[in-house]
Amino acid sequence: MSQADRAAEQFQRLHERAPSGVWSAPGRVNLIGEHTDYNDGFVLPFALPYRIAVAAAPRADGLLVVTTVGDDGVPQRADPVAVADLEPGSVTGWAAFPSGVAWVLRGQGVTGGADLVIVGDVPAGAGLSSSHALQCAIALALLGLAGVAPDEHAGPTLAEVARWVQRSENDFVGAPTGLLDQTASLCCVEGHVLFLDVRSGVRELVPFDPAAADLEVLVIDTRARHSLADSAYGERRKGCEEAARLLGVPALRDVPLDGLADALNRLPDALRPLVRHVVTENDRVLRTVAALRAGRVADIGDDMAASHASLRADYQVSCLELDIAVDAAVGAGALGARMTGGGFGGSAIALVPTGAHGDVRAAVLAAYAERSLTTPRLFAAVPSAGAGRDH
Ligand code: GLA
Repeated sequence: MSQADRAAEQFQRLHERAPSGVWSAPGRVNLIGEHTDYNDGFVLPFALPYRIAVAAAPRADGLLVVTTVGDDGVPQRADPVAVADLEPGSVTGWAAFPSGVAWVLRGQGVTGGADLVIVGDVPAGAGLSSSHALQCAIALALLGLAGVAPDEHAGPTLAEVARWVQRSENDFVGAPTGLLDQTASLCCVEGHVLFLDVRSGVRELVPFDPAAADLEVLVIDTRARHSLADSAYGERRKGCEEAARLLGVPALRDVPLDGLADALNRLPDALRPLVRHVVTENDRVLRTVAALRAGRVADIGDDMAASHASLRADYQVSCLELDIAVDAAVGAGALGARMTGGGFGGSAIALVPTGAHGDVRAAVLAAYAERSLTTPRLFAAVPSAGAGRDH
């Protein structure tokens, strides 16, 4: 049963009426282009075949009543809140994610209350954007109840919705994240990676069919989540902004690769590795896009490996579990592997020849077992559809 069908069924069970509609949004992996989004740079995500679905119906009393239903069928209901009363800080915990979306949409004239029932199969805490999938599905649901269906031609565009979702996360939830995840969840298309220039907002869907080249993208969910992730993300971001200020440019996007050495000379030691990562990572995204446009999927492995090395040594957002996954995968025949997402745990991806799947899988599991680490989850990621209305 699809997540959308499950959401509709659970809504009927919990509210004893049918929902007005069901909307869903996927998690993502980022093929390459990490910690570049908040530097106005380039990213290259694709959507996973795992989704969060929201069944919704309007309420006349202006309340937002949000229920999540886990795999075990047990519902968890957040305290009902009046949409009119929502302010940053007024809701904490998981309920801040849906409430933040309602808060930001209230500013766009979407003020009605709603019953929302949420189900999904995006692995949580795996760095695969389950929270963004949730926020995007909620945004489409609340807009849908108000009769608004975003597209490129009428009403708000998906890019605008992505910015609203970002604002709800930055200003309501309090996480200073960039635009990668929301845009991926909303704008990805099956069979493609999404090349996004964050500064201009220009998006290009680049066909991506690893299976046609006898390859697969293997996701390795390390199941590690390190507690410093949130503060460390903000520190990296601040460091980048400080470096851009010292260099007199609007964002690190504006430091050209051939001007990198000069830029590094003008910066204090502590900021140099951050700048080196961002500038070289943007270049790797452009090279990867060029290879994919030319159908040379097998050629992107080296840039994936270089991306991981840069995130580990320069940006310092990797961790033992991610490094072990990457090393074991490459050692067993992956063409390249790298952490994906914010880092400090979460998931790695590996570009694996189909014939080496078994070896790579076995090598990763053995490397974890040898160190008595929690067994990781491994699955092949097929580029899937973005968010939308299901029913
Ligand atoms: C997290 C953030 C994104 C992006 C990545 C790193 O996923 O939500 O905005 O910065 O980390 O690329």
